[in-house]
Amino acid sequence: MFNDLQSKVTDILELTSNDTDTKLQQICNLLQETIPYYDWVGFYFKNGSKNELKLGPYAGAPTDHTIIPFGKGICGQVALSNQNFVVPDVQAQDNYIACSINVKAEIVIPLFVNGENIGQIDIDSNTADPFNEEDERFLEFVNQGVAKIL
Ligand code: SME
Repeated sequence: MFNDLQSKVTDILELTSNDTDTKLQQICNLLQETIPYYDWVGFYFKNGSKNELKLGPYAGAPTDHTIIPFGKGICGQVALSNQNFVVPDVQAQDNYIACSINVKAEIVIPLFVNGENIGQIDIDSNTADPFNEEDERFLEFVNQGVAKIL
């Protein structure tokens, strides 16, 4: 599944007639529609010079959390740690921001441009403990591709 998705992501990124937000939206839609346990897929980016994340394109239910301060929630922690964060069970996390009562697991992968952590891709799953290293490698591939068009 991920091999096929990698080539589709590359196709989206290389289509020069679309602007960046359109490409990011298409990637969110593709992942959310194709991967059964990806229920919400979105990009957050550093909000200018502020130490906070701002929601970018996403697919899935609307969220109230359009701004997340650095350090808050899984996303805010990744903004500071620069590390992938795989959460098999969100209820076991103290520093977690719930977007929906249906969410059971989350994965957040930082996005680097010239070595700087400028955002992230965030996936929520309504399935318990669904993510493995293949998800991490795939989402790193997505972010590396996105980094080239930002
Ligand atoms: N759960 C995230 C907040 C963002 S929503 O998942 C869309 C967090 O704890 O940072």
